[in-house]
Amino acid sequence: MSRRFVLSGDLAINVHNFVVGPFQENTFLVVDPKTRNALFIDPGADPDKLIAACDELQIKPVAILNTHAHVDHVGAVSGLTQRYEIPFYLHKNEEQILSHYESACIMFGLPPGTPPVGNHWFQKEDKLVIGPFKITCIETPGHTPGGTCFRIGNHVFVGDTLFNGSVGRVDLPGGNWHALEESLVKLFSTLNGEDIIHCGHGPDTNRDQELQQNPYIGPLQTRIRNASLLNK
Ligand SMILES: [Fe+2]
Repeated sequence: MSRRFVLSGDLAINVHNFVVGPFQENTFLVVDPKTRNALFIDPGADPDKLIAACDELQIKPVAILNTHAHVDHVGAVSGLTQRYEIPFYLHKNEEQILSHYESACIMFGLPPGTPPVGNHWFQKEDKLVIGPFKITCIETPGHTPGGTCFRIGNHVFVGDTLFNGSVGRVDLPGGNWHALEESLVKLFSTLNGEDIIHCGHGPDTNRDQELQQNPYIGPLQTRIRNASLLNK
């Protein structure tokens, strides 16, 4: 478990990262140290390990938020909702992917367990307020139809839309390269140099590193610049 303590806007939050499951997925636990409230982002596997961490940290989970519904990102959802009875937030356009959870588990050779059940569907660029957390949702379809990035202060959780040096695959059902390109332009037009980008797999990154080194982002620079100007 890695731990970071970063001042973000008016909220100082801790971000804990757990690498879980055979796909080495990043599960994040966002903690407000003042209230000890916490959010799970993309709890992908191993709910017992995540529950033990919450006990150790003496925190109270208040919700689960998912960037998308692929099996490697939702595998711990049912275990956590059973333990904590907390809401599970997911974009409405991920409903179909979530409904194929069991067949996707079989396809990838994962034990299915209890399928996760979405109960808080959001749409569009909603702002969510959950306990002490103010969350900006940025719709980023492409990897999946309802893929969404979440900003909390200067932490941006991007799921499989963007990786350190790469981007998400678009060859799974519902994937679309043109949509992903548009989403990357939009995402980058909202980023600033101080943002910490937390990816669904692999290490964190930041805007400038990706602008300079990511072979998928470099060709989008002019479009990102134009979109950034429109945002001002
Ligand atoms: Fe994914």
